[in-house]
Amino acid sequence: MTTYQSGFGNSFESEALPGALPVGRNSPQRCPYGLYAEQLSGTAFTAPRADNRRSWLYRIRPSATHLPFEQIDAGPIVSAFDALPVPPNQLRWNPLPMPDAPTDFVQGIVTMAGSGSPRAQSGAAAHLYATNRSMTERVFYNADGEMLIVPQQGRHRFVTELGVIDAEPQEIVVIPRGVRFRLELPDGQARGYICENYGANFRLPDLGPIGSNGLANPRDFQTPTAAYEDIEGAYELVTKFMGNLWSAAMTHSPIDVVAWHGDYAPYKYDLRRFNAIGSITFDHPDPSIFLVLHSASDTPGVSNIDFVIFPPRTLSMQNTFRPPWFHRNIASEFMGLVHGAYDAKAEGFSPGGASIHNSMTGHGPDAETFEKASHADLSKPDVIRDTMAFMFETRNVWEPTKFALASAELQDDYYRCWQTLQKHFDADRP
Ligand SMILES: [Fe+2]
Repeated sequence: MTTYQSGFGNSFESEALPGALPVGRNSPQRCPYGLYAEQLSGTAFTAPRADNRRSWLYRIRPSATHLPFEQIDAGPIVSAFDALPVPPNQLRWNPLPMPDAPTDFVQGIVTMAGSGSPRAQSGAAAHLYATNRSMTERVFYNADGEMLIVPQQGRHRFVTELGVIDAEPQEIVVIPRGVRFRLELPDGQARGYICENYGANFRLPDLGPIGSNGLANPRDFQTPTAAYEDIEGAYELVTKFMGNLWSAAMTHSPIDVVAWHGDYAPYKYDLRRFNAIGSITFDHPDPSIFLVLHSASDTPGVSNIDFVIFPPRTLSMQNTFRPPWFHRNIASEFMGLVHGAYDAKAEGFSPGGASIHNSMTGHGPDAETFEKASHADLSKPDVIRDTMAFMFETRNVWEPTKFALASAELQDDYYRCWQTLQKHFDADRP
């Protein structure tokens, strides 16, 4: 059974054995149970208190105890994004097929697009994954970025250094930079999306005039309690470091943290708990009202990456076009669909699929959705059920990878959904 502590960025504490957590100091001369004390920091030491993140881990062996890393094939994982010209077209992909050969989580990751770089500690990558083999003696950590994982199919069990997180589609899991974990598959296979954030850690956005409640509430974030393995045997530690994958042999399980405290820890959030805010008069608001998590850039008010969702909700605006309008934005959008249908597209955007609408590329509802919404009966609300779409929105242009542009899942005919939009203009009929 997994147990959780609630809150976002709280100072958590948890021990899997009674008295394992030192009291009054972080690194006593000798730790209880013969454990080693180790700090894991996730921000600069001198970051302002509200942003500062670090945890103290009390473990069977320090994390330095491994043989030297050797580089291994990263497959379709990419962290450099300036190799190809970026087409200014609207791009959309069908879902990735499940693999035929046994494929674990790390082997099942394919990079679709990205911007910036781990070197610059700015930007992000958008990956898909499809996996059909649980990780067992293989443990992974990402030194390049924190990973916001959006399960789309199958139950996921993240066995992390700081505890176990069970997640299912419509929940998200965030694994901070450096935290070691493996992914087990209770259903035998799983699929989803990853936002690899090279920039500042995700945090909850300010609420401004919304007030103290609404959007994602801090108490709904769940951080695991301590759980450890004391296992001797052959283990492989894989890391993503500076865009490459590296492998090191270990003689024991690295999931050996018996107790920990601090505020740098993995967490999950159930997207169905999001309190969506919307217009009760007219007009479709900007998608910023659907902001779940935000990674700041060095420019105030401009995000490095935003995680936005489009959950079930009621549209009751009067004398207005209710779906999202046509738009061209300075920001660039990577969208995915976890469940159901997205209200701005009649068809072609399937659960597990993805789309990119880059900076200043025009897009919006397809012709069918436009016609339907233009003649809808607005005396009744539209109740949008059975949906969970999301967006990784960034100030940078999403640069698709060679894999993404050559993929058989890329829809060559996506542009057609706007070609049948009719001309309604008549200069004699105001
Ligand atoms: Fe858009």
